[in-house]
Amino acid sequence: MEKQRLDKLIASTGRWSRREVKALIRQGRVLVDGVPARSAEEKADPGSAEITVNGRPVEYRRWTWLMLNKPAGYLSATEDGRGATVLDLLPPELRKRDLFPVGRLDKDTEGLLLLTNEGLLAHRLLSPKYHVEKVYYARVAGRLTEADCRAFAAGMTLADGLACQPAGLEILAAGEEESQAHVTLREGKFHQVKRMLAHLGKPVLYLERIRMGNLPLDPALSRGEYRFLTDKEVEGLRKI
Ligand code: URA
Repeated sequence: MEKQRLDKLIASTGRWSRREVKALIRQGRVLVDGVPARSAEEKADPGSAEITVNGRPVEYRRWTWLMLNKPAGYLSATEDGRGATVLDLLPPELRKRDLFPVGRLDKDTEGLLLLTNEGLLAHRLLSPKYHVEKVYYARVAGRLTEADCRAFAAGMTLADGLACQPAGLEILAAGEEESQAHVTLREGKFHQVKRMLAHLGKPVLYLERIRMGNLPLDPALSRGEYRFLTDKEVEGLRKI
């Protein structure tokens, strides 16, 4: 593998920021093949060198995977002249890693958004071929009915000709003014949840993604917060 700076390499684990790595190195707590590292700029080959922090081997990560709890008001894009993007919610050191959102949530949609720099796996998660489930919590105007659930399950064709695959609609609460539901899709067309519900005359008032594949939105994440996916979670995505 290519040699990399120690601060970059150790920070890739997500456990320490680059600044923290520098402090650890100054304190002599980072060893490369048993020898204390002298500076953050020192380079090592993660494929062959044994790097330890506080005596524990560092698990080098080639790719970065983050789960973000997206707030409304941010665009799912890497750059956009029209306003703040989800990357603005990350610290500068993560913004330098060429991360991009795995699929899009509308500007006003909240909830689970994955960010990564691993293009191939991201592409697979989005491909309709792999049927990765995306689950949304939706609040809509009007009363949702069993007929609406049947229309979702049958696969509807919208007035503009968009043919939607069969999808799930589970009613959580149904009132005259407003209803709440979980929507499950295995594809991701532009504004799809909003368009499907609008087609049934129940426009979306609020939308939040709560699950992607086997990854639920972490309840410990407040809006605008992110965390690194664990190795197990990334492995789970690879199995898809
Ligand atoms: N469907 C929508 O309509 N909007 C989203 O943000 C995601 C799915």
